[in-house]
Amino acid sequence: MVLLGQNTKNMMNFMTLITFLLFIMPSISYSQNLGNNILLTNRKIFPKQETISSYAVVFDAGSTGSRVHVYHFDQNLNLLHVGKDVEFYNKTTPGLSAYADNPEQAAKSLIPLLEQAESVVPEDQRSKTPVRLGATAGLRLLNGDASEKILQSVRDLLSNRSTFNVQPDAVSIIDGTQEGSYLWVTVNYALGTLGKKFTKTVGVMDLGGGSVQMAYAVSRNTAKNAPKVADGDDPYIKKLVLKGKKYDLYVHSYLHFGTEASRAEILKVTHNSPNPCILAGFDGTYRYAGEEFKANALASGASFKKCKKIVHQALKLNYPCPYQNCTFGGIWNGGGGSGQRKLFAASFFFYLAAEVGMVDPNKPNFKIRPVDFESEAKKACALNFEDAKSSYPFLAKKNIASYVCMDLIYQYVLLVDGFGLDPLQEITAGKQIEYQDSLVEAAWPLGNAVEAISSLPKFEKLMYFI
Ligand SMILES: *[C@@H]1O[C@H](CO)[C@@H](O)[C@H](O)[C@H]1NC(C)=O
Ligand SMILES: *[C@@H]1O[C@H](CO)[C@@H](O)[C@H](O)[C@H]1NC(C)=O
Ligand SMILES: *[C@@H]1O[C@H](CO)[C@@H](O)[C@H](O)[C@H]1NC(C)=O
Repeated sequence: MVLLGQNTKNMMNFMTLITFLLFIMPSISYSQNLGNNILLTNRKIFPKQETISSYAVVFDAGSTGSRVHVYHFDQNLNLLHVGKDVEFYNKTTPGLSAYADNPEQAAKSLIPLLEQAESVVPEDQRSKTPVRLGATAGLRLLNGDASEKILQSVRDLLSNRSTFNVQPDAVSIIDGTQEGSYLWVTVNYALGTLGKKFTKTVGVMDLGGGSVQMAYAVSRNTAKNAPKVADGDDPYIKKLVLKGKKYDLYVHSYLHFGTEASRAEILKVTHNSPNPCILAGFDGTYRYAGEEFKANALASGASFKKCKKIVHQALKLNYPCPYQNCTFGGIWNGGGGSGQRKLFAASFFFYLAAEVGMVDPNKPNFKIRPVDFESEAKKACALNFEDAKSSYPFLAKKNIASYVCMDLIYQYVLLVDGFGLDPLQEITAGKQIEYQDSLVEAAWPLGNAVEAISSLPKFEKLMYFI
């Protein structure tokens, strides 16, 4: 009995000691690790001498050409230099869709870019470097199985010829809502707002040739009450995790409302009769996606007021809205809120303002207000076609000077009457964003690269869609 009593007492002392040790151990090992220069990342401990950076290679297969981006991330997801810049970039023309009849040739057109990408990634890192190819508008428009054949041929090329890590989903068509969500990641990544509260993030608008996208973070409550969409349609809300923070992202892509597509929509409103958005003295044909549209001016020329009315019709602004608030065409507006207070406008929002001389085209981005497009439109609509060619040499070179009144009014109406922005709200329009001592492209590939490296075990899923 005595023995048992002593054992019990010893046992209790032992337990107390264990409990005490368990209590203080995490802090001991933590401070010791810091003392030994060992980095802590999401509970896993990596010694500093181990390379925990990662490269990612993203091909952007667009309608006019194919581009390659090579990024190098450190363990905190910050970009490291590749050469003298924060990315390696090169492009080749034409795009994959130009090889509709020869899928193998399409894939082969990527070989020089692939070889250049391999040459900038250190040999011992290549097998761990994810490679992806995202095909946008051009390939989406090809008939029948032509686009699938091209993608399969690219998959074969990457698996057979490249030394990179090729996942089964590495080659795919990127749709409008994916483009919008990746752009949101890119912009917030570059601005350093990822991982912060959704109210601190910046919304993005992307005016492409065929479609326009809006993406911004909303509250959990807004996301929970978001309207359901028909089967097969993209949901309004995408959920994703970035740097440990869960975001509800409102994303919508409006097909037929990109810059080039919108001209067709606006000309369709007046059928074959003269259109008040066309400058005096112009009589021609507008071609888009294999269709032709009559584009001719009224005898009195273009009119700001009359053109605005036509643009309202083209945007389907009075379409019935089944929700509390709509943008246009019966699409839910996402409810607005803090995630949309600051907006970054990419692609043609930037190009048009730069090409008509509203801002310095050499700057990577600038502040602009919707009302600035309105003022410029009023000037442009009063010109005849000949004068517009000399006033807007950049547009004349691209044979689109006749559409300058139309394009400016379209952007104003889209922003104010479509997306519901205050005409005086300052937005940032840009093609690039300052990052460290360099610039990053305001486009989807960087966001896609962040997702690609997050699938590597050592990054513990810093970004993923739920
Ligand atoms: C880009 O590609 C072209 C054609 O393959 C090549 O001549 C050029 O050196 C490349 N640029 C860079 C920076 O590698
Ligand atoms: C590449 O790989 C695919 C499938 O693995 C195969 O069918 C094809 O013949 C290969 N092509 C070459 C050029 O090796
Ligand atoms: C809906 O639109 C009205 C009128 O434009 C506006 O006052 C209101 O704040 C909007 N509500 C939401 C949730 O967007």
